[in-house]
Amino acid sequence: MIFDTHAHYDDEAYEEDREDILKLIRQDGVGLVTDVGATIASTKKAVALSEQYDFIYAAIGVHPEGVEELTAQDMDWLCELAKREKVVAIGEIGLDYYYEDPKRDIQKIWFRKQLEVARKTGLPVVIHSRDAARDTLELVKECMKEGMHGGIIHCFSYGKEIAREYLNMGLYLGIGGVVTFKSAKKLKEVVEYAPLEQLVLETDSPYLSPEPNRGKRNSSLNLPYVAAMIAELKGISGEEVIAVAEENAKRLLFRK
Ligand code: NI
Repeated sequence: MIFDTHAHYDDEAYEEDREDILKLIRQDGVGLVTDVGATIASTKKAVALSEQYDFIYAAIGVHPEGVEELTAQDMDWLCELAKREKVVAIGEIGLDYYYEDPKRDIQKIWFRKQLEVARKTGLPVVIHSRDAARDTLELVKECMKEGMHGGIIHCFSYGKEIAREYLNMGLYLGIGGVVTFKSAKKLKEVVEYAPLEQLVLETDSPYLSPEPNRGKRNSSLNLPYVAAMIAELKGISGEEVIAVAEENAKRLLFRK
């Protein structure tokens, strides 16, 4: 069954038809979904969805774009929230240097603190990293040495050399719609290179719909297109990709 390890069904893009979409994806062979928080507010919504639907699990944390809202008390709150049964990861957290703000130093402070929440609570991380390859790798390496459990590099966007570093530490690469884009030569090389046992499927819904639905609102129903592209690159079947990716995600996320 399909395990969508990264979706934002709490997003306002689903305000009108959330219940219908969730029913539809469940009927159409999507087995499990991790709804990933990106702010304090969306983290609360992700946990609420996980408590409302059996097949939804939650990741809790604040995306680099939103870290300026954070306080030390929020870290304690995340540690407490991490104890809920359906909370399976800390994320999405990380570094995004694409925009100027928040400043890099501020992003690094809160990334480090949230990695620390992951280490303390024994949960894996879901990492967002854009245009920040070196700094992300450095902080993750440090925390892995300090005993953090692994995690997923969500929407992996770097080359083979960076991929190798994460794979060697036992982390997983999250592969979504981007792999189906014609321009995604570098990502296709990474997918060919990485062991299937360290790849997980993700949509980042409502964003990043794969071809042939690029530009439209995404949902987990589009994951077979992603699996088909990975299958083509690996010379195996789409079913095998889906099955192995599901096992990988369960091994990482269902630690409780
Ligand atoms: Ni996301």
